[in-house]
Amino acid sequence: MNVLGIESSCDETSVAVISDDRLKANLISSQDFHKKYGGVVPELSSRAHLQIITPLVRDALAKSDLKLNDIDLVCATAGPGLIGALLVGLTFGKALAYSLKKTFIPVNHIEGHIYSGFLMDDKPEFPFLSLVVSGGHTLLLLVESFMQIKKLGSTVDDAAGEAFDKVAKMLGMGYPGGPKIQNASLKGDPSRIKFPVADLREPYNFSFSGLKTSVLRYIQKNFPDKNIPENDLADIASSFQNAVTLALVKNTKRALENYDVKTISLAGGVAANSFIRNSFIELAKTYDKKIVIPDLEFCGDNAAMIAFRGQKLFEAGMKYDLSYAPFPALKEDQYSGS
Ligand SMILES: Nc1ncnc2c1ncn2[C@@H]1O[C@H](COP(=O)(O)OP(=O)(O)OP(=O)(O)O)[C@@H](O)[C@H]1O
Ligand SMILES: [Mg+2]
Repeated sequence: MNVLGIESSCDETSVAVISDDRLKANLISSQDFHKKYGGVVPELSSRAHLQIITPLVRDALAKSDLKLNDIDLVCATAGPGLIGALLVGLTFGKALAYSLKKTFIPVNHIEGHIYSGFLMDDKPEFPFLSLVVSGGHTLLLLVESFMQIKKLGSTVDDAAGEAFDKVAKMLGMGYPGGPKIQNASLKGDPSRIKFPVADLREPYNFSFSGLKTSVLRYIQKNFPDKNIPENDLADIASSFQNAVTLALVKNTKRALENYDVKTISLAGGVAANSFIRNSFIELAKTYDKKIVIPDLEFCGDNAAMIAFRGQKLFEAGMKYDLSYAPFPALKEDQYSGS
């Protein structure tokens, strides 16, 4: 079976092909031009998706040695994400499936992230704990099968990735902030500044808004002229990154003590962070669990995870009527809020 996956929920256009369960192509075109605005501009994002999607589908097919007609199943992200951006990939996918008389499956972007560990050679084993840490979500989930996901907790305010981006902005590092904070942290001392780690009544929920404010207050108090020497910048970045990591590890530890899982799986853009990756490798060792963290190409937004998830839904018997409402995944956005 040949599956075409399409992702366009934010600022990455991506097209992937999975043939007989093997990933043949996963092309990702990132919209770097948003940097100069300090964040993603939705309308510009939609236009850029529109320009690149056709050549990207052509290139992905060529890389996979396939023709359009060889595709059996078309899958596209249907939400959550920026509405205009989503519309491009979703409508393109639906139109393609309609014209080829092939099946179309809409995919929830977060479920794409949750199962992204299956793109690795060494796959998660059910049941597993999934920690999705991305630009818009911070979720701790108990995943029992391809059809059973239980949400244990989520952020009550900012997502972890959002906190990275906002703190990087405060430190004058630019967008996207995650990789910049990680780089700056390399020379920093993670224990120099004790930034707060939220401890909420709901044991698996997260909060990063207080941490973000605390970094802001620290900068205002110690560097009122906003002139931060390089070594202090490194220590602030490193201490902030450490506080985020402690929060993620703390709740995951609690879940490990209460749920008998085989694997811990990290997913989402923030899972690209090497400090967080290493902390979770240590955590898994301590609890004698398998750890699966996708390669960097599958942490951020990518269509391989959408093709994979779509195929699993198709195999489970999901049917989709092409004339149905435009955003099928949004009505069941069970991953938002706490
Ligand atoms: N090395 C890193 N360290 C920390 N954060 C990182 C790193 N690399 C990327 N990020 C963060 O990952 C986020 C982007 O991840 P992703 O593309 O999965 O999010 P999204 O698709 O925008 O949100 P969602 O998946 O919730 O809809 C950004 O906030 C970015 O700063
Ligand atoms: Mg994402």
